Amino acid sequence: MRFDVLTLFPDMVEGPLRHSMIGRALEAGHVELGVHDIRAHGLGRHRTVDDAPFGGGSGMVMRVDVLDPAIAAVRRPDSHVVLFEPSGTRFDQRMAERFATLPHLVLVCGHYEGIDARVREHLVDETVSIGDYVLTGGEYAALVVVDATARLLPGVLGNATSASDESFSSSGTLEYPHYTRPREYRGWAVPDILLSGNHGRVDAWRREQARARTEAVRPDLAREKS
Ligand code: ADE
Repeated sequence: MRFDVLTLFPDMVEGPLRHSMIGRALEAGHVELGVHDIRAHGLGRHRTVDDAPFGGGSGMVMRVDVLDPAIAAVRRPDSHVVLFEPSGTRFDQRMAERFATLPHLVLVCGHYEGIDARVREHLVDETVSIGDYVLTGGEYAALVVVDATARLLPGVLGNATSASDESFSSSGTLEYPHYTRPREYRGWAVPDILLSGNHGRVDAWRREQARARTEAVRPDLAREKS
């Protein structure tokens, strides 16, 4: 799968994704990533990308005649083009799973007060928000979407099973708690059952822990399931 990110701040996107599991997946060729500076399509000597809003008001608006050629430069016949905006559809695990089936995702990061509405109307397939808060731009959203999507791709996590038995997977619950050595630290002991060697009882305990935690911190998810 290939991701192309269009941004005014390429370093914000490029740097973080070169680390950790996603960085390794890029090096291994399991995932391809292009990060493109929208300003390369800016207008005039100053490479202008924005202008004052028609109708007045504060702030600047990103221009459609800049974003159009920026998107066209990376778009392929099989591309899915996403624009990040606070008013977009909320990103979740289900959307990550859908994106992970696509061959090419183009992620457009907005900035300033907003983006000319004709971009949303004519140039992108979908608008996405990563949550009910306002960021200064779409870069963090692009990082979230690339990370959550890429880790679902074959080969990226190494361990093929680890993406499927965690929070928000098809089970619809949060994850059960994990423990490792030491068995006791500052008087904090690992639950005995995990040391019992009885896999059936361990599985049942984990399921119950996941159910109880979901009920306690995310009753909305617990309700959705039942
Ligand atoms: N741009 C500004 N706020 C955003 C959000 N919450 N999600 C995605 N893009 C954004």
